[in-house]
Amino acid sequence: MSKLEPVNITPGVYWVGVIDWNLRDFHGYETPKGGTYNAYLVVDEKIALIDTVKAPFADEMIRKIKQIVDPSKIDYVISNHVEMDHSGSLPAILEHAPNATLVTSSKGQSGLSSHYEESGCKNWNYQVVKTGDTVDLGKKTLMFIEATMLHWPDSMQTYLIEDGILFSNDSFGQHVATSKRFDDEVDDVMEDAAIYYANILMPFGGQVLKYIEKLRGLDIDIKMIAPSHGVIWRNGFEQIIQEYAKWASGKNRSKVLMIYDTMWGSTEKMAMEIAEAVRSKDVEVRLRHLRKNDWSMIIKELMDASVVAIGSPTMNNGMFFTIAGFITYIKGLRPKDKNFFLFGSYGWGGGAVKAMEKEMESARFVLAEESLQVKFRPYEDDLEKCREIGYRLAELAKKNANT
Ligand SMILES: Cc1cc2nc3c(=O)[nH]c(=O)nc-3n(C[C@H](O)[C@H](O)[C@H](O)COP(=O)(O)O)c2cc1C
Ligand SMILES: [Fe+2]
Ligand SMILES: [Fe+2]
Repeated sequence: MSKLEPVNITPGVYWVGVIDWNLRDFHGYETPKGGTYNAYLVVDEKIALIDTVKAPFADEMIRKIKQIVDPSKIDYVISNHVEMDHSGSLPAILEHAPNATLVTSSKGQSGLSSHYEESGCKNWNYQVVKTGDTVDLGKKTLMFIEATMLHWPDSMQTYLIEDGILFSNDSFGQHVATSKRFDDEVDDVMEDAAIYYANILMPFGGQVLKYIEKLRGLDIDIKMIAPSHGVIWRNGFEQIIQEYAKWASGKNRSKVLMIYDTMWGSTEKMAMEIAEAVRSKDVEVRLRHLRKNDWSMIIKELMDASVVAIGSPTMNNGMFFTIAGFITYIKGLRPKDKNFFLFGSYGWGGGAVKAMEKEMESARFVLAEESLQVKFRPYEDDLEKCREIGYRLAELAKKNANT
């Protein structure tokens, strides 16, 4: 059996997580760079494991732990989050360490009890904690910080006081598979963190701002942020908190994002004409065909766009199915302060634009312009209308920008 090496973070603190090189889809979110599930072992007079990994990787995590300590010696297992990418190997580790205390939030306990009944979760030794509670490991102390709705009701974080390490679980994560463990060793870390924020945390901007205020109020001296996905922030820990505050407050740039699908190219022709008019006014524009781009990347581009145009052909009296899926996705993500515009081509009775309008109105999204529909192919007079709309969207993008 090959030897799996844990990574020493600071004296007594180890990364015992796993790298999922082939992860390309994380519950529907495309992850072209793969991902990691981070678990951390804190070794002192007492031993604590902070979070675990997705169930299929349990053995890999346990083999890493064995390089450092006998897993049966673990005194505390901290479960910061019920979601299975972090709790999936709890049954396996608690089989090795049946007497360990399982530390979690109160919602954590109820969530774990729902998920792991068959694994004997009723017999686990729970210790329910809230913000400010601590666990003494000897020279090191763990303090817990509830991070409610970042991004589940049970979400919690663990702060190692003496070393200044915030184990932030999903917050501040990135989906990247890399053999490097620190932010200053990789490229594009802020971009990857933004994609992650946009797809996972965008709906919870209000809670993110409250959490940051709470974190500042705790008056703790953070020296490192160790999330449960991606690399550890030992250099940019202050910067990532500031970026979260910016993303959470919904700052929009002067940018038009155009999202569309097309069967025979008419809706695309309209999109291209609008985009060209926006560009001619020196406003940034991005054109994204929904079947040719990863949606997780489009969502990141949407996060700071001040204007979003959505184009759909009519198919069977309604909108094209990818558009319906995309609108459902953004309704849930609740992007802040955007101006929307809808357009599309139809053949006879139409229906796409009407169906889109209904969806957008139910989400209380602001429709900045009257929607534009074209029968079959857009001819010169239709293209002229597209250009005029493009000029107006460019103006709106500038006006609506707040950064
Ligand atoms: C499978 C299919 C179903 C369609 N259903 C409708 C429909 O119910 N009502 C309608 O007005 N047009 C319908 N159309 C016509 C398209 O909306 C029309 O061809 C439009 O110009 C396509 O735009 P596109 O080139 O952007 O794909 C349908 C076309 C296809 C291929
Ligand atoms: Fe999660
Ligand atoms: Fe996660």
